[in-house]
Amino acid sequence: MEPSKEYLFNHKGFYFVTQGATPENIDALETFEIRDSDIFIATFPKSGTVWMQNILNLILHEGHRNGTEDVENMDRIPWLEYNFRNMDYAALPSPRVFATHLPYYLTPRDLRNKRARVIYVTRNPKDVVVSYYHFTKIMSSLEEVSDFSLFLERFLAGKVMGSSWMDHVTGWYSHAQDFNILFLTYEEMKKDLRSAVLKICNFLGKQLSEEEVESVVRQAMFENMRKDPRANYEKMPGHREEDGKCLFLRKGTVGDWKNLMTVAQSERVDEVLKKKMESLPIKFIWDISDKV
Ligand code: A3P
Repeated sequence: MEPSKEYLFNHKGFYFVTQGATPENIDALETFEIRDSDIFIATFPKSGTVWMQNILNLILHEGHRNGTEDVENMDRIPWLEYNFRNMDYAALPSPRVFATHLPYYLTPRDLRNKRARVIYVTRNPKDVVVSYYHFTKIMSSLEEVSDFSLFLERFLAGKVMGSSWMDHVTGWYSHAQDFNILFLTYEEMKKDLRSAVLKICNFLGKQLSEEEVESVVRQAMFENMRKDPRANYEKMPGHREEDGKCLFLRKGTVGDWKNLMTVAQSERVDEVLKKKMESLPIKFIWDISDKV
């Protein structure tokens, strides 16, 4: 089943959401002017993008950390390829942080010349597809596919926003040498958030006191982020429900796929992905009780 053109378009082999992106804007990103201080969060959808946005805001902005500033994450860290707020990216103060779902080959040229920093977050694909399925129910910019089996087939065929999960992850990992990049997994963040925060600080060359690190970790925990209106995208345009609050942060766990997938569906994912996944330098965690 092909994705509806009303919701998605394919440009240079990659599926974008029709709302907010155009082929011309995507092409223009090739020469987007990069600053050495820029930071990019790159992910396949549903891998922990919003979580990383919040962590970076907490690390970089004291006012965000101590609550004296009330700036929403999506205003501070806009989406590179979807300029929802019509912001002038060239006018943003340094360090600029952008979020993106772009594949490595569509990113700005200078990013591929090792300028600026990239943080790439991966998540196990079974949790990704389940999170994605629930997400299509709340976002009006995405086509709602009520039958999970059908959505799973689309996901495995790469016919969703972000295209093929496997190609996205493999592409970024196999081109790591072109970027100044830090790889993290959702599961390692879930298991030991403090260590992940320290890794990020180290990558960014940002020194925080013990107390500040604790504050970042506390505010980046699922339950606290859910209560933080700056972090949970309550005001993001495109919710199907007008008062659709707290939906962006849904369950925030590892292994939720077991609550939705049948054994046959799980085996289908294994059949399509597992062999290829063995070539990736990532230890995938499928359940919260698995060791990192
Ligand atoms: P679930 O739907 O499984 O709950 P993205 O931001 O890339 O779209 O990813 C969204 C997923 O990250 C959602 O997964 C969301 O709940 C989860 N997430 C966001 N913040 C989180 C946090 N602080 N801890 C754990 N998971 C979080």
